[in-house]
Amino acid sequence: MRKIAIVGTGYVGLVTGVCLAEIGHQVTCIDNNVDKIATLLDGKSPIYEPGLEKLIHRNMAEKRLEFTTNHREAFFKVEVIYLAVGTPQNRDGSANLDCIFQAAREISEHVSGEIVVVVKSTVPVGTNDKIKQSIEENALSPLKVDVVSNPEFLREGHAIYDTFHGDRIVIGSSSKRAAAIIAEINEPFNIPIIHTDVRSAEMIKYASNAFLATKISFINEISTICEKVGANIEDVAYGMGQDSRIGSQFLKAGIGYGGSCFPKDTKALVQIAGNVKHTFDLLESVIRINNHQQLKLVEKALLRFGSLKGMRVAILGLAFKPNTDDVREAASIVLVERLLEEGGRITVYDPVAMDNARKILMNEVNYADSLREALYQADMALIVTEWDEIKEFPLEEFEKLMATPIIFDGRNCYRLEDIEQYAIEYHSIGRAMIKATQLTS
Ligand code: UDX
Repeated sequence: MRKIAIVGTGYVGLVTGVCLAEIGHQVTCIDNNVDKIATLLDGKSPIYEPGLEKLIHRNMAEKRLEFTTNHREAFFKVEVIYLAVGTPQNRDGSANLDCIFQAAREISEHVSGEIVVVVKSTVPVGTNDKIKQSIEENALSPLKVDVVSNPEFLREGHAIYDTFHGDRIVIGSSSKRAAAIIAEINEPFNIPIIHTDVRSAEMIKYASNAFLATKISFINEISTICEKVGANIEDVAYGMGQDSRIGSQFLKAGIGYGGSCFPKDTKALVQIAGNVKHTFDLLESVIRINNHQQLKLVEKALLRFGSLKGMRVAILGLAFKPNTDDVREAASIVLVERLLEEGGRITVYDPVAMDNARKILMNEVNYADSLREALYQADMALIVTEWDEIKEFPLEEFEKLMATPIIFDGRNCYRLEDIEQYAIEYHSIGRAMIKATQLTS
């Protein structure tokens, strides 16, 4: 058992802290945000993540998990400090490291002796060395710091599962002693550990996310060609994915990737390459394709109707993917903004992301309490997130509720042969359009 402090109770910090407590370590999570810490001390999770609240309760009750806003208190006698603060993107796409260096200063002020600092936040290659330098230079009392890069690969909505069942744990360090301590901390997870140097560990994170984003943009490009040549993207992706060299995951065509990682990390990697005078052409295309893909449904609707002025549009799903309330960089936001420009009258619905969407979309749209309410009298429905609730929604309800049952499905939620049983006009991604003969408009 180790005594650990985690700086930052955002998505990564909180999940990491809670899971390290669950495997037996003594963990204190710190955040400057008083409200967030108050929520956590109340036993509630400030983010929507299946299974997280249960683990918070258990580990607080068993006294392995604490929350505080006080760095001095949290750092008292700790052996290891994890940095999991945000690195949002600057206007130019580079990572903003203000929170990282603020946390480094807190360590300089409150820690003495020997400390291992583990960087979980995604930071540009070379940053970990600068963190070590900053902590040592500003230390108020003699301090020996070892910095370890330990990137996270958690998916929102599956973060607890991924922590216990990840494919690998990457530990990048120039200190054998520090690397051994972090390996020992992670041992109970029973996941293969990859040891490397700090810069390679930093790069593994960016390269992995960029590669996954590339897979998505690649399949989305193939889906556009499929539409034009009369092929079916679902069959094509399946056929490709059976080749183990390609792999079947991340070949789901749709309306592009969103969320807090892929958009930010791809742009940051283009910047990192630019800083060493390399133009990352491939990744720049991946980003451009994704920006275009997010607007695919409006493009299809404009092609179908000519103008969207005054049309009643139901937006089904707002989160950037199912099982999360996160709308950061979600296709829904750019889609809605574009539809408003085109003069559409919009009603939105999401099972859990309504509150977060409200903060962005304000009173520009109507908010429905259910799928049925959103669809009532709509001229078209745009499916943005593949929630189970949407996938399992009876198709006859589209027919019954909508003024004209025309669906633009950005996530290929339905089988074409099922749609064919109803008087629904159906446009999806990379598949044939289904025209309902019974429809008049
Ligand atoms: C991702 C990485 O998976 C994770 O390893 C990293 O640490 C953080 O970024 P996350 O953003 O939570 O995780 O979601 P993920 O499930 O990877 O999906 C990202 C986006 O890609 C979503 O918008 C999703 O809809 C889209 N996506 C994913 C596709 O469009 N097609 C796919 O085949 C897979």
